[in-house]
Amino acid sequence: MLTIDKLSAMEILDSRGRPTVLAHCALRGGATASASVPSGASTGTAEALEMRDRDPKRYHGLGCRKAVGHVNREIAHALCGKSFADQKALDQAMLELDGTANKSRLGANAILAVSIAFARATAQQRGVPLYQQFADILGQPLRTMPRLTINLFSGGKHAGKQVPIQDVLIVPASATTIDGSLVMMYDIYQAAAELTLERHGMRLLTADEGGLAPPFTSAAEMLSCAVDAIERAGYKPGTDAGIAVDVASSHFHQDGKYHIDGQALDSVAMISRLSEWVSKYPIISVEDGLFEDDWDHWPALRTALAGKVLVLGDDFLCTNPLRIARAIEAKACDALLLKVNQIGTLTESAQAYHMAKQAGWQVTISVRSGETEDNWAADLVVGWAGDQFKNGSITQSERLAKYNRLLDIEHQVKLPMIAWPNK
Ligand code: PGA
Ligand code: ZN
Repeated sequence: MLTIDKLSAMEILDSRGRPTVLAHCALRGGATASASVPSGASTGTAEALEMRDRDPKRYHGLGCRKAVGHVNREIAHALCGKSFADQKALDQAMLELDGTANKSRLGANAILAVSIAFARATAQQRGVPLYQQFADILGQPLRTMPRLTINLFSGGKHAGKQVPIQDVLIVPASATTIDGSLVMMYDIYQAAAELTLERHGMRLLTADEGGLAPPFTSAAEMLSCAVDAIERAGYKPGTDAGIAVDVASSHFHQDGKYHIDGQALDSVAMISRLSEWVSKYPIISVEDGLFEDDWDHWPALRTALAGKVLVLGDDFLCTNPLRIARAIEAKACDALLLKVNQIGTLTESAQAYHMAKQAGWQVTISVRSGETEDNWAADLVVGWAGDQFKNGSITQSERLAKYNRLLDIEHQVKLPMIAWPNK
C-alpha cells in the first residue's frame, strides 16, 4: 500500500510563458516527487477541462491559482493519510472526488499533476525507473524504443497561420536508435534552415514547438520543401526519412468547408486532396485529416488512406475512451494520438491505449505545444512502447528535456527501436 503523506501544488510557467500546474507528492516512507503538466493551443473540444482562473488582470485570465488551490485544499484533504493499492486506486479516488465527466470541478490540470507526481513518487519508493513504473501501470513489459516524429515546419495555430497545416514532421525511418534519429534530424533541420534563408530570406522564425515557420504560399510547398530538405541533407526521401503531417483540420474547417490554399473544399474534396499528397510525397501518417466531428466522412478517409499511411486521430479522439470506442466501431481511423492531459489521468490514458491496441491500431504518444522542462513523457513513451513519439522540434529546452531523457534511457537499457515499416 502507498500512503500519501503530503500533497501540494504551485503555479509555474510553461514554454509559452503561460501558467501551468506543478504538484509535489510525498509518500509515507520518504519518497517525494513532483510533476508538471503541459497545455495545448490547438485543443480538441472534447478534451477534459484545463482549469484557468479567468481573471483578466492576471496572465490575461490564464492563471492556474484555482487549480492549484484545488490540489492544496480539497484534493490534499481527501487523499492525505489515505493508502492506495496502486495508481488506479489513486486516480479513481480523484475521479470520484471531482464527480464530473470532464473534470470540470477540480480541473484536469490539477488532477493530472497529482496523478503523475504520485506515479513518480511510487517509482522512487519501489526503487525503479519511471519508465518501468509506467510499464507496470499499463501491465506490460518494456519492449521497444519509439520511432520519432520530429517537427520540421509549422503553420496553423502554432505559428502565424501562414499555412493552415499545423505540422510537417520528419520521421527518421532508417535510424535504428534514438541517437541515430537525432543525428539525421539535425542534418535535415539545418538543411531546412538553409533553404528557408535562400527562399524566404529568413531563418530563425520558429513556432511554438520549435519548427521553422517560413511564409509558404501553400500546403504543397510546405511538403515539397520538407522533401527538398531531406535530399539536401543527403538522405533519401521515403527510405531514410518519411514525413508525418498534422493537418489539424478542425482549425480551418468553417461553415461545413475546409478552407485551404484559397479554396473551400467539402469533406470528399478534402479526402481527395489528402490522397493526392499521400501519392505525391513520402507521407507515413496523416493526423486529423478531417475535423473533429466529421464522423460521417472519417470512415471514407480511412478507406482512402489505410494501408498507405496511418490515419491518426488527435482532436478527433481526444484520448477519450468513449470517442475511441465509437471510432473503432465506425472504422474511422487506425491510430491514436495519445496525450495524457487530454483526458487527465494515467489510468484513463492506459485504458485508451489498451482499446487502441486491441483494435490493432498504432499509438503515437505526444506532448503538447505548451510544455515544461519536466521529462516524464519520455519515460511514458518507453514504458508504454509507443509506436511513435511526437515531441516537437530539436530546438528549445522543453523539447530537449524529453529527447535527452530518451538518450539517457537508451544508454541505460538496450531496447530495440520499433521496426520499420511497423506493420
Ligand atoms: P496542441 O497541438 O498541443 O497545441 O494542442 C498539438 C497537436 O495538435 O498535435
Ligand atoms: Zn494534432
